[in-house]
Amino acid sequence: MSQTRWTEVDRYFEGLLAPPDPILDAALAANRAAGLPAHDVSPGQGKLLHLLARGIGARRVLEIGTLGGYSTIWLARALPADGHLVTLEVDPGHAAVAAGNLARAGLAGVVEVRVGRAAESLAELAAGRPEPFDLVFIDADKANNPEYFACALALCRTGSLIVVDNVVRDGAVTDPDSPDASVRGVRRLAEMLSGEDRIEATAVQTVGSKGWDGFVIALVTADPRPSTRIR
Ligand code: SAH
Ligand code: DHB
Ligand code: MG
Repeated sequence: MSQTRWTEVDRYFEGLLAPPDPILDAALAANRAAGLPAHDVSPGQGKLLHLLARGIGARRVLEIGTLGGYSTIWLARALPADGHLVTLEVDPGHAAVAAGNLARAGLAGVVEVRVGRAAESLAELAAGRPEPFDLVFIDADKANNPEYFACALALCRTGSLIVVDNVVRDGAVTDPDSPDASVRGVRRLAEMLSGEDRIEATAVQTVGSKGWDGFVIALVTADPRPSTRIR
């Protein structure tokens, strides 16, 4: 009663609520052909990201961890024609596959793929003092989750959503002595969230085709921008 059934249930709901889509299917096929790891969100999870972005009327989205752009397509499709999505990817090969997938999806004008280490790209982004992002999806190297969350928060506004992927990892998150850098990164993030008074957050476990995992979903509840914050 586990992975097989979880996958069957995902397939059941996907068949009705996230049916095959030539663009998304082509993106996954291109990722496979290029040898990318199958670390994309599931269709149901992609649709959740899409609905969250659409539900808040997001116009500007930031993604940390592009891979082949599968989650990027779900998110970018939630944006209005003049919307903008910036996605950060360290691996030039991954970024090139993503660029192809996004072009085929007709999203090249909406999405900007920035190649480089996310910590550096985030510092460069912040230096440009951009309009705040309405939604941030954090899905890169989990060891740096706390640093990415802090940078993301400073790029948001009151009412923005920050979503973090892969925070459960088969339950490993509860081990305080885990030597796994990803687990330690998630635990450090959770502790940071519990003491952060500018957000309200929850963590939701998921099972499905991607196994047992989960998301953190955080709502920015007070102005997080360093320059505009009134103390
Ligand atoms: N969001 C994607 C999956 C991302 S997988 C989807 O759901 O479709 C994680 C990605 O983060 C990988 O492509 C990996 O190369 C990238 N990554 C890992 N470390 C990074 C870093 N330091 N900076 C930017 N990207 C990084
Ligand atoms: C891994 C990374 C992901 O972003 C994901 O969704 C699943 C697995 C990984 O690094 O193993
Ligand atoms: Mg992920």
